[in-house]
Amino acid sequence: MRLLPLLATVASLLSVTVAQKPHKYTTFTELSASNKGTRGTVILNDQLFNELTLPPRNYTSVVLFTALDPRFGCVLCRDFQGEYDLVASNWFRDHPKHDGLLFTVLDFSDGKATFQKLGMSTAPILMLFPPTTTGSPSEHMPLKYDMNPNDPSAAESVARWLSSQTKHAVKITRPFNYVKLFTLIFGLVGTATLSKLAYPYLAPVMYSRNLWAALSLVAVLLFTSGHMFNHIRKVPYVVQGRNGGVSYIAGGFSNQFGLETQIVAVVYSVLAFATIALCLKMPRMESAGKQKVAVMAWNLVLLVLFSFLMSLFKMKNGSYPFFLPPLIA
Ligand SMILES: *[C@@H]1O[C@H](CO)[C@@H](O)[C@H](O)[C@H]1NC(C)=O
Repeated sequence: MRLLPLLATVASLLSVTVAQKPHKYTTFTELSASNKGTRGTVILNDQLFNELTLPPRNYTSVVLFTALDPRFGCVLCRDFQGEYDLVASNWFRDHPKHDGLLFTVLDFSDGKATFQKLGMSTAPILMLFPPTTTGSPSEHMPLKYDMNPNDPSAAESVARWLSSQTKHAVKITRPFNYVKLFTLIFGLVGTATLSKLAYPYLAPVMYSRNLWAALSLVAVLLFTSGHMFNHIRKVPYVVQGRNGGVSYIAGGFSNQFGLETQIVAVVYSVLAFATIALCLKMPRMESAGKQKVAVMAWNLVLLVLFSFLMSLFKMKNGSYPFFLPPLIA
């Protein structure tokens, strides 16, 4: 009968220790406050994760599953970590007592068993564990955040997601980016100085009519010969013909090959130069005899090339009714 008092003592001792053990919510808020490096987040391991997510929960917890060790080469993990820390530190700044929302991180190095248990083979994964003390059991299920790798404002997206899924309104204010401002100012001042210094040398180029004419001509030839069409449709350069030859002209008006457009571009440019020569060079020629010959020659070039263009048209579409001598396809 000496056993009973002993049992009673043990039981009372146990109840005392149970009563003294603080609620796990308190434990986690204290852990997060002690974490100076990443303000407002709790660094988890397998044991802490189990404790955190074990029902009942009277708090909301956000868990970032990540793999920051360089061995895993997870670039997205590193990129996302900064955004996540920003969300957590914003919440901690506005709610120093956490107010029922905890931000935590479980790195693969500290939580292999948990990663295995949850069948997670990728990182980062962001999950939300809602409280279990309210609502129906289906509302206790963890929610997964839809990660967008190219999100430049991931912190804002996460905050919006949390605000829509929980009763907590998470707000983000990004620290002012002085580096960006100074880079911008230096860039502007530098560009202005350089432009001022280089102006005497650049002005003749900038105001040169011939340069602009040449550039415009290149652009006009590029676009009228069908360069954009080739880029958009990714047409073949040439196509193997039926009897072993190469066919470089596509049949039909709604089709073309790469080489075909280059031929057309060359013809167009020679036609353009013939016209320019006739307009600008010929009137300035001193000798009337030479002028006559040159005018005839350039006109002949015009005629033959236009004739070639029309025969090319007919090659593409046999039913094209027009032609221009001397080339009749
Ligand atoms: C959860 O319950 C514990 C114990 O009652 C309490 O100390 C804590 O503040 C509660 N947490 C929240 C977020 O209400």
